[in-house]
Amino acid sequence: MKEKLREIREEAVKRLEQVKTSQELEELRVKYLGKKGALTAILKQMGALPADERPKMGQLANEVRSAIESKIAEARGEIEALAMEQRLKKEALDITVPGKEHDMGHQHPMYIALEEIKEIFIGMGFTVLDGPEIELASYNFDKLNAGEGHPSRDWSDTFYFDSDSRVMLRSQTSPMQVRAMETMPLPIRIIAPGRVYRKDEVDATHSPMFHQVEGMVIDKNVTMADLKGTLNTVVEQLYGKGTKTRFRPHHFPFTEPSCEMDVQCHKCGGVGCPTCKGEGWIELLGAGMIHPKVLEMSGIDPNVYSGWAFGIGLERTAMRRFKIADLRLIFENDVRFLEQF
Ligand code: DAH
Repeated sequence: MKEKLREIREEAVKRLEQVKTSQELEELRVKYLGKKGALTAILKQMGALPADERPKMGQLANEVRSAIESKIAEARGEIEALAMEQRLKKEALDITVPGKEHDMGHQHPMYIALEEIKEIFIGMGFTVLDGPEIELASYNFDKLNAGEGHPSRDWSDTFYFDSDSRVMLRSQTSPMQVRAMETMPLPIRIIAPGRVYRKDEVDATHSPMFHQVEGMVIDKNVTMADLKGTLNTVVEQLYGKGTKTRFRPHHFPFTEPSCEMDVQCHKCGGVGCPTCKGEGWIELLGAGMIHPKVLEMSGIDPNVYSGWAFGIGLERTAMRRFKIADLRLIFENDVRFLEQF
């Protein structure tokens, strides 16, 4: 038995010295030390030995076991060190390789202009609404007091989907006034930015698709003074403190009275120059007090509530803000243009 133990020890140590992988190592551990392993098999035979030989043989077996165990630990250490070395080699970073240049994206000038406007109105307690671009003519026209026969309903101006002229691409963001009045609790303070569509030929100031931002306030005792005060504040935030505005009478079917607001030309300070076409003023938006009929059609009592509304062209605002001379640049997506913002 002594001889057998010696053999096991020698064979195990020799094989453990050549082991290369942790899988091989585990196989050897099971082979020698496992429950059905060589050493266990020997220990099972101990019972057959004379009683005085058992302690000595037991001691010898324990020595063989610990010799094999320490050899296993040694081999495991070597295998792990080797694996780590290979990993470090494989994952080594060459910090001298030049980096890859990443192109940073740019915010589109329209997006910048929109964000500025949104921020100003959100700061004044307005909610931002989103609405459908495919709209019902009843929302785009009828409920805004532009009944049958109104010139803007003409097929030459508006994109309709059906021969009955009921479904259309919205020609203004004003239908969002109606949608807000029909669904929101009073008082209401909203802006609604988005795309609008008209049958216009493309040129330096026209596009069949452009953007508007609609705004509306409805509450008790709202007056034209609130409209002027709010819009003057907005203009000062957009174009700087002290920017002058003027309000001219105008006509829109959904407001009474209606007006257009101009800002004093930033280029010439009101003297007159090519930017303002010699006028000294630049038209910025349409606005007015919401027509009592419009309030009534959406279920709001004009004897209790009043309101004002405005619609601003976003392209024009962005063009002014970034001194862009031709509207087409905004939609052509020429990177040389976009990179400037
Ligand atoms: N919807 C008008 C347009 O497209 C702009 C406008 C004018 C909107 C007056 C309004 C308003 O809300 O009160 O020309």
